[in-house]
Amino acid sequence: MYHVSVMPLEVSNCLVNKLDGLYVDCTFGGGGHTAYLLEKFPNIKIIAFDCDEDAYKQFVENKKYFNNRVTFISDNFKNIKQALSNINVYKVDGILADIGASSKQFDDLTRGFSFNANVLDMRMDIRNPLTAKEIINTYSSKDLTDIFYKYGQEYMARQIANAIYVRRQRGIINTAVELQDIICSVKGQSSRINPATKVFQALRIFVNKELSNLELLLLQAPEILNSQGRIVIISFHSLEDRMVKLNFKQNAHNKIYKLLTKKVITATYEQVKANPRSRSAKIRACEKINA
Ligand SMILES: C[S@@+](CC[C@H](N)C(=O)[O-])C[C@H]1O[C@@H](n2cnc3c(N)ncnc32)[C@H](O)[C@@H]1O
Repeated sequence: MYHVSVMPLEVSNCLVNKLDGLYVDCTFGGGGHTAYLLEKFPNIKIIAFDCDEDAYKQFVENKKYFNNRVTFISDNFKNIKQALSNINVYKVDGILADIGASSKQFDDLTRGFSFNANVLDMRMDIRNPLTAKEIINTYSSKDLTDIFYKYGQEYMARQIANAIYVRRQRGIINTAVELQDIICSVKGQSSRINPATKVFQALRIFVNKELSNLELLLLQAPEILNSQGRIVIISFHSLEDRMVKLNFKQNAHNKIYKLLTKKVITATYEQVKANPRSRSAKIRACEKINA
């Protein structure tokens, strides 16, 4: 299983306002949301983005089921406006982004997203040069502290950064397992949650520039959406959700968007039981107001 899509029914209810419209799935991943939307709305078409070559392979494998209704763009969604104009698309009826990493990315030990990986990488797009290994082995302890604190809200950021710095004197830190061991030596193993969770989240966000990508997408969205077009963002941690909430609020204030989710949509108990990844998912949606 590549990835179990989060709240597909709620996403489709928020996103689709035009039954023969053109939509963008900014985060194709395993194609679960795309496939669900195509099946539910037989006359829509989708342009799918993903910067991960595994997602592209997944698209190619399933292309025959999509009946020419999906165009795939192997690019970062931060380039959405330019990438769409390259294929002569200037307006769309909806934009969906299911932010973060896929289960496949977490489960594949060669990608270095998980605690027990034998590499230290974390790049969604392997065309980018900066890996977690380079950051961990070359950044100053002050810069590491800032990253762990800013993107992970890790309260022991400074102590962990110092421990990494000291450990580096004995040789290169090559794997996620080694990094996890250093973090555990500082934080201990007191809670049910892995003590390395916040540092790993921070590194992943920093390596993939996740917050600035989202910011750029949110900035371009009003220019790309048709009147009554919709934007739906699924976020998984408070830094992203706050950014989405503020952007939507500001655009609603400026009469560019109408808020569709006055209250954020979260997964029900049953949905979390069936798909634990949906536990922290938050859906926010807006509709572009007539120009
Ligand atoms: C949570 S998964 C999406 C799962 C998908 N909705 C599904 O139902 O299978 C997120 C995907 O977005 C991709 N991704 C994350 N940030 C991206 C970005 N800035 N540009 C393009 N793709 C991105 C990741 O590579 C990953 O495959």
